[in-house]
Amino acid sequence: MAKGRSSAYVCDSCGHDEPKWLGRCPSCGEWNSFKEIHLGSTGTARRSVHPIKRAAATLLSDIDPTPPERYPTGNEELDRVLGGGLSPGTSVLLGGEPGIGKSTLMLQVAATLPGRGLYVSGEESPGQIKNRADRLKLPQDSLEIICETDLEILLDILGENKPAYLVVDSIQTLISGEAGSVPGTPNQLKIAGHRLTTWAKTTGIPLFLIAHVTKEGTIAGPKVIEHLVDTVLYFDQSSSDLRILRASKNRMGSVDELGLFRMGASGLSPIPDPAGMFLEHRKSSNPPAGSAVAAVYEGSRILMVEIQALTVQAKGGMGRVYSDRIDNARVSRIAAVLERHAGLKLSDQDIYVNVAGGLRISDTGAELALALALFSARSEQALPPDLAAVGEISLAGEVRPVPHLRRRIKTASDTGLKRYFAAAGSDEGGAFSGKGKVVHNIRDALAAVLS
Ligand code: TYD
Ligand code: MG
Repeated sequence: MAKGRSSAYVCDSCGHDEPKWLGRCPSCGEWNSFKEIHLGSTGTARRSVHPIKRAAATLLSDIDPTPPERYPTGNEELDRVLGGGLSPGTSVLLGGEPGIGKSTLMLQVAATLPGRGLYVSGEESPGQIKNRADRLKLPQDSLEIICETDLEILLDILGENKPAYLVVDSIQTLISGEAGSVPGTPNQLKIAGHRLTTWAKTTGIPLFLIAHVTKEGTIAGPKVIEHLVDTVLYFDQSSSDLRILRASKNRMGSVDELGLFRMGASGLSPIPDPAGMFLEHRKSSNPPAGSAVAAVYEGSRILMVEIQALTVQAKGGMGRVYSDRIDNARVSRIAAVLERHAGLKLSDQDIYVNVAGGLRISDTGAELALALALFSARSEQALPPDLAAVGEISLAGEVRPVPHLRRRIKTASDTGLKRYFAAAGSDEGGAFSGKGKVVHNIRDALAAVLS
């Protein structure tokens, strides 16, 4: 915002400012969204309303390096994704599509966190929240509910009455008078996100912000405030009742962990031992051609997943890849390796790839199983039902080792898959025993299947 002016025009929708009124915002394209604001003597309106506390500079060598203490939330899957629990003043953004279970998870967590918490709801009435808490049989003597959507009033309340932790459901319902009268615009989200995360940092009180991910884009999504918070979690749906919690940003730990929950009549229950859960439906029958099992490493756990492939003669002779759970480029690469190094013609086929249960896979250790699934689909030969595969595939057709081989094989065996194909020379040697077979290249692997 330019200095030396007494007023400026700010877009209600995106926060863009201009010295003169304009009919249409050049930044977001919204019509009639400019409002005049009067600038204080320091040059911004915001400063005059909310005085800023001066920060003192500290010499790097004088800063205490002890990491802030952590305390678990009591929900083991949430703690796993957070990287061990909450620290004072941490702000966590929980995003996900409407109906996925964000309010359910946060109410379950808030009701059991130690201390008296405050749950701010702009979406549901106290009665609706009470009904949900009753249905979930949650303790109700340490959580207060308030239905307030005015950001300035909420900050006033928080100034007088400090909770042990704060949940805001959802940030898109909050309105600040400084950002116009429409809730859910990027500008509203930025102001509410900034004020609340600053409040959390200065008071040391942990903060959870719920935000809807919307496809239509009529209200702003959580992306616009991701940079303000310490941790960004996204809730994703896999099968109908399975919910996957992932961190996409985490100042307190890694972003590799997965939290797995099942949504049932009593809310979201953590799945502590998920190794074989994606294979449950396979047990009853012999798998058809096109199905192969991979042992993938996700976060700190091994999950057994079924990769399904289907190949169909392409119209016009030029095949395409349709795969939404494994990157398309990876599927194309493995298909090209099979064609070049194992003589399996796939370039004239449309290739469809799916991962049963809907998990997205980025682990390269799944490539050997993907190759086997493609081979099985194209040759219409089913693979042995108790076979698991682990290995990365190079462009030269070699099967390369991947980390945690021994744990992958043990998990496969624990879930009833007694045979495995895996690369040699893994960093965890000595894993090969029993019905394991070392495969050096893709031809080896296919020959072993055919024999
Ligand atoms: P909700 O937490 O309200 O979703 P969000 O806040 O992300 O919009 O969850 C809503 C869905 O969850 C709703 O379709 C009903 C279902 N649900 C259950 O299946 N079991 C339960 O115990 C609860 C509370 C909700
Ligand atoms: Mg909700």
